[in-house]
Amino acid sequence: MRLKRKHWCENAIENKREYLVKATEISQNKFQDFINCKHLALEIGSGKGDFAISMAKKYPDINFLAIEMQSMAIAYALRKIPDEKIDNLLFVNVDAHYLFEQIKNHKVDTIFLNFSDPWPKKRQNKRRLTYPTMLNEYYNILSLNGQLIFKTDNDVLFNDSLEYLKESKFKVVIIDYDYDGKDEFDSLTEYESRFRGLNIPIKRFIVKKE
Ligand SMILES: C[S@@+](CC[C@H](N)C(=O)[O-])C[C@H]1O[C@@H](n2cnc3c(N)ncnc32)[C@H](O)[C@@H]1O
Repeated sequence: MRLKRKHWCENAIENKREYLVKATEISQNKFQDFINCKHLALEIGSGKGDFAISMAKKYPDINFLAIEMQSMAIAYALRKIPDEKIDNLLFVNVDAHYLFEQIKNHKVDTIFLNFSDPWPKKRQNKRRLTYPTMLNEYYNILSLNGQLIFKTDNDVLFNDSLEYLKESKFKVVIIDYDYDGKDEFDSLTEYESRFRGLNIPIKRFIVKKE
């Protein structure tokens, strides 16, 4: 969903600028140093940032790169970052499609897709973040035993994504049609809170590169 621009957006970004890399800054040291780490996790489509902030606090040994193409969503996320420094968190304001080339030499341990846009119309399906071309990109940047974890409320997107997986090289670890949200290596997202509040079952899969 396209977020409306708010008057506080620029200030929110400036106040927490150290947590943000813009598309034009990807070749700079700040971004390259961050991804050049021992354990790297990506969240693609991080929205208002709840998940990435919470996971970065829980797992200080993993660098969390939150990828989000809407700058307004990033402004909401940056506003939520507490004053105490979180060294292992960085937001990048870019369409994920343009990032794979940049990170291809830095192996990723985990990719999270949380409540990705469903793009329900047939002609829009290829924009889905679980579309076969994307699964292929994820497979290439993941390290051996690296995992892709996908959560959604949307049955059609989930079932179509399971079909896309069949064409991929990923090995299925878990398919859950009513995930209870209790895994340790997980956190609640903004959309997830909303759907859990409406008693909509959360679907999840975990797949692995072998
Ligand atoms: C439905 S929202 C979910 C937000 C969050 N993950 C959550 O669960 O609350 C999907 C988000 O993904 C972002 N997004 C969609 N496609 C993207 C892409 N190709 N690159 C970066 N962000 C993307 C959208 O801008 C939007 O903020």
